[in-house]
Amino acid sequence: MQLQENKSLKTYNTFGIAARARYFLEINSIAELEEALQLKKFNTPFVISGGSNILLTKDIETLVLHINLKGIAIVSENEDSVILKVMAGENWHNLVLWTLERDYGGLENMSLIPGNTGTAPIQNIGAYGVELKDSFESCEAMNIHDQQLQTFSKEACQFGYRNSFFKNEGKGKFIITSVNLRLTKKNHLLRTGYGAIMEALKRNKVTEVTIKDISEAVIAIRQQKLPDPNVLGNSGSFFKNPIISEQAFQTFNAEYPKAPFYKVSDSEYKIPAGWLIEQCGFKGKRFGDAGVHKNQALVLVNYGAATGSELLALAERIMAAVFQQFQISIVPEVNII
Ligand code: EPU
Repeated sequence: MQLQENKSLKTYNTFGIAARARYFLEINSIAELEEALQLKKFNTPFVISGGSNILLTKDIETLVLHINLKGIAIVSENEDSVILKVMAGENWHNLVLWTLERDYGGLENMSLIPGNTGTAPIQNIGAYGVELKDSFESCEAMNIHDQQLQTFSKEACQFGYRNSFFKNEGKGKFIITSVNLRLTKKNHLLRTGYGAIMEALKRNKVTEVTIKDISEAVIAIRQQKLPDPNVLGNSGSFFKNPIISEQAFQTFNAEYPKAPFYKVSDSEYKIPAGWLIEQCGFKGKRFGDAGVHKNQALVLVNYGAATGSELLALAERIMAAVFQQFQISIVPEVNII
């Protein structure tokens, strides 16, 4: 382990923000993680993995740990399913491709989500009708305080919409080291209900749908709508879709009958924040090097030299405009540092 100082984090966050780490350590094994957490010189370290869900608005004055734990192993399997243990530093999309090569089903709708496997449970990543929790079996995490490895069951993770234990009570207390996933080996559940998937499958003239077809459809949709962080800095959806009460929904729907919505429970509705932001006129707008993506208003982009503070200022402006027009609060999905 080699301690680096004043290291640029530009290539470690998908927004491409040029913040610096006062101290930086690359973590390649569980033993190294344990050792790093025992360094008495540092207070609570800052953990970075795929860097796909953070907005850095300042330099990090403490020790930054870059989690680079690698490995995918089959833990157990039977005729119908397989359980994989995936180390936290494995790139999520590479994992999805690895599972598809072996015809393991469950992750295909979540193709091309940026980031690493270890951070996937923190916000319960999801796309096109599927969330991580649907394939999640358990995860292992190191307690920052005593360096013990703890196993968290699905229940213990308290998954919700872009939410989990690790975003709430567990915040700042654990570092996820691996994730166990249960995937199907046959009779795959083909989740094609999301409108855009059906259209893409039809366009590709697919008749007998496979999990690979779904993955290809999702990749095509994402490439069309969402910017590639390697080309244009971004962090996926910057905001969560707001969930509003039945009463608020009735008022909203009467005034904006054309607005899209999804009923999420008997008394709650989810409204696409992208639609609200677009209505406020922000879609495709650019303010210096900070902007709102032209194809998906939920995504903020860095055209090159935007600072975290500039992107945050834009986010705040958007939140205020949406509230003023619709009386609906939207909140960031991305962790603001
Ligand atoms: N819409 C607009 N204008 C926009 C964007 C969207 O009117 O600029 C409308 C669309 O026409 C559609 C609706 O909003 O009627 C929903 O749009 P979309 O299918 O693109 O999904 P989303 O709700 O905006 C969510 C996730 C995405 C995920 C997609 C597909 C959140 C915060 N975002 O976006 O996740 O890929 O559904 O499942 O839940 C991410 O978390 O980083 C992410 C990209």
